[in-house]
Amino acid sequence: MYLRLDKFLSLAGWGSRKEVRHLIKKGKVKVNSNIIKDPEFKINLKTDLVEVENQKLDFKINFYYKFYKPKGYITSTKDPKHPTVMELISSNLPGYKELFPVGRLDKDAEGLLLLTNDGILAYRILHPKWKVPKIYEVELNRALKDEDKIALEHGVELIDGITLPSKIEYLNREKNKVKLEVYEGRYHLVKRMFKKFGYQILNLKRVAIGCITLDDLKEGEIRALNEQEEKNIKKCLRVEENLK
Ligand code: URA
Repeated sequence: MYLRLDKFLSLAGWGSRKEVRHLIKKGKVKVNSNIIKDPEFKINLKTDLVEVENQKLDFKINFYYKFYKPKGYITSTKDPKHPTVMELISSNLPGYKELFPVGRLDKDAEGLLLLTNDGILAYRILHPKWKVPKIYEVELNRALKDEDKIALEHGVELIDGITLPSKIEYLNREKNKVKLEVYEGRYHLVKRMFKKFGYQILNLKRVAIGCITLDDLKEGEIRALNEQEEKNIKKCLRVEENLK
């Protein structure tokens, strides 16, 4: 896999694109023992040895993307029968072959999906211990009754245990559109929560995972997390620390 030298150094934590370009232009960066002054020089991540100020870079690059999953696609890297989200993503994307989706969104659901090759980050996003909020906009087949809303927020008994407390906000006067914030990632969690009280979900859209939001992404669009987003999510999940 190939990556531009400036992007590689920036991902490796040597600073912003501007800062690493300055380092490169000053002749501080070597690739396979040769000084390289072109920030656009393509390096082979598998075979090239990169040194900055004579310090060898030996680490695994992590990639973080946010993606707007449209309905009709399976959240999986491979599926023998159905189209998967990976089919919507260009194979030229840096890290493509190593990427996997963090958690699932059902085939008939849409919205924010994170893709990464960082197993620790993915584990922490999904594990209830880390209580990462996942926010959904839910359209129901009828108005949500106030008493059902309160019961859902407190936690409901499902076949695999009681749900953690959640938060619900009405999004319209008719009360059939709500924003739901949950802190766990169980299979079909949202559908099962509402089904418990006899509601059917007409539309399910995830709009946020922790501090990462769908923003203005269009259906099928993918974008690398910007520096601030990456910093924020790592900070919330204490990814730099060696915790289980
Ligand atoms: N809960 C569901 O029921 N479906 C999803 O896709 C995500 C959460």
